[in-house]
Amino acid sequence: MEQSKARVTAIGTYVPEHRLTNHELAKMVDTSDEWITQRTGIKERRIAAENEFTSDLAVAAIRNLIERYQKSMDDVDMIIVATTTSDYIFPSVASQVQKKIGMKQTGAIDVNAACGGFGYALHLANGLITSGLHQKILVIGSETMSRSMDYEDRSTCILFGDGAGAFLVERDEHNPSFLSYHLTTEGEGGIHLYRSGTATMMDGVELKPTGHLVQNGREVYRWAVTTVPQGMQKLLEKSSYTLAQVDWFVPHSANKRMIESICEKSGFPLEKTLISLEYCGNTSSASIPLSLDMAVQDGRVKKGDKILIYGFGGGLTQAGLLLEWGVES
Ligand code: COA
Repeated sequence: MEQSKARVTAIGTYVPEHRLTNHELAKMVDTSDEWITQRTGIKERRIAAENEFTSDLAVAAIRNLIERYQKSMDDVDMIIVATTTSDYIFPSVASQVQKKIGMKQTGAIDVNAACGGFGYALHLANGLITSGLHQKILVIGSETMSRSMDYEDRSTCILFGDGAGAFLVERDEHNPSFLSYHLTTEGEGGIHLYRSGTATMMDGVELKPTGHLVQNGREVYRWAVTTVPQGMQKLLEKSSYTLAQVDWFVPHSANKRMIESICEKSGFPLEKTLISLEYCGNTSSASIPLSLDMAVQDGRVKKGDKILIYGFGGGLTQAGLLLEWGVES
């Protein structure tokens, strides 16, 4: 892999105020705290307020990042937002973020790779900086998944929640953060996890035209636990690192049982795995920065740590990156 010239220099996150607990969900659909906890590990998720949209969550995460970074952000020259729950079909969330933050000298674009989105967006930021085209990029994963939920579908609405996380990526030839990557797409599996749009069919199958997220939970589960460990291995083979040298594993926080199975199959210790699903549910492209930031804030993750992030989801997409954590503690 081309030597990276980009470093992650700051992080910020945001979750909405309102908590939706398993007990509250059990009053809405035929489920229980016990069932959800046992099958998923999720205890509660956050739900955006009526007037709070994906761009607002992204802006709040950036403001949190700015408070902690304490240097000028005037020279940010690109904003990349990973999301599948944009405020409008267009304009993009990134353009709304640019307007609300008031950054003048920047391009702005959304990336849609579902729950693999944050990894894809980071990968693009590394490429744009390493190539010399850009110097300072804001990468944000932001989602209001609650707006795509069918709160009558108990096998799906129990899983998802809202939140946002942001990284700042800057040019730094001497201390690059990006050590390896592995990206895959299996479009033929798209039918297992989708939200319908203008097309009514996929691969000859009639779609549920609900505008809600629809999934074949068992199939997605099976796919993730078999393919993610293989992807992690390929990512490491491309690098000079072994699994034993990885300090923290940050998988997409989809389901705790799924993550336990991925750890068991890959041979990575569960106790060095960072998750956010217990209190945030599955926040799609926001889950990786949310999980990581919890461990940054309580002092577990330190500058120089090797961190394997691994997103997977609708598409079906996967994006894994090996990072050296570059943010000053
Ligand atoms: N509460 C109580 N019972 C529920 C339920 C709920 N919230 N959701 C489903 N059930 C029931 C089913 O109706 C089924 O009942 P039946 O046996 O009477 O038909 C039973 O539980 C088992 O259903 P099944 O779908 O086999 O459960 P599961 O163990 O596979 O768990 C998921 C369902 C959705 C939790 C699990 O498949 C999963 O997490 N998959 C991955 C989904 C995912 O992560 N998607 C996003 C990826 S980015």
